[in-house]
Amino acid sequence: MTTESPAAAAYWERLWADGRRYRQLDDTEIRLLEDHLRPGRARPALDLGCGDGALARRLEQLGYRTTGIDCSPSAVALAAAQDSGPGPVWRCMDITTDDLNALPDRAYAVITCRLVYRWIDDQAAFLDRVRRLLAPGGIFWVATEISGRRADTDPRQHLGITPAEAEILTAGWSVVHTVDLDVLRCYALRP
Ligand SMILES: C[S@@+](CC[C@H](N)C(=O)[O-])C[C@H]1O[C@@H](n2cnc3c(N)ncnc32)[C@H](O)[C@@H]1O
Repeated sequence: MTTESPAAAAYWERLWADGRRYRQLDDTEIRLLEDHLRPGRARPALDLGCGDGALARRLEQLGYRTTGIDCSPSAVALAAAQDSGPGPVWRCMDITTDDLNALPDRAYAVITCRLVYRWIDDQAAFLDRVRRLLAPGGIFWVATEISGRRADTDPRQHLGITPAEAEILTAGWSVVHTVDLDVLRCYALRP
């Protein structure tokens, strides 16, 4: 018998296809991100694990030429179905394994990763790939739940990253800014 890792595309595909949805992006969280961004000016942005595309669409509205990628075909279809005119480019890709040359740009001024880092098996290898995609002076924005913010009895406790995972995330950047939003922590990381 095989067990399916949450990192597997099939795992996410089943959840999206079954109608599972995730924490909505609200104005407070968007403002935190915008506080760390310069105007887009048509520079490239990349949202990793874009889900239904809400964050990628927001980056596009901020003037970035945005690509959203997700390993679930249903998520990508859902994102694309909300396009009304020119908007982000959507790609079905696994950020941990697929060829990065398949992306529309070689380097990105902004890379975002919302509610995804927790589910990556080899986080150090993932971060190496992100660094390869960041343009000089670029920013990597991660929004993730952190452990210890929920009551012991809360069944969603496992959604938080551990202190060890946070250490892997923040190691090796020249600038690390963090800001907390209830159970979430947002990281603005610069090479
Ligand atoms: C909890 S959902 C969050 C979705 C979206 N970022 C949001 O904030 O609503 C995690 C998303 O990451 C995607 N994902 C997980 N691992 C991935 C990988 N290795 N490559 C691309 N997408 C991945 C899943 O398909 C899913 O859409």
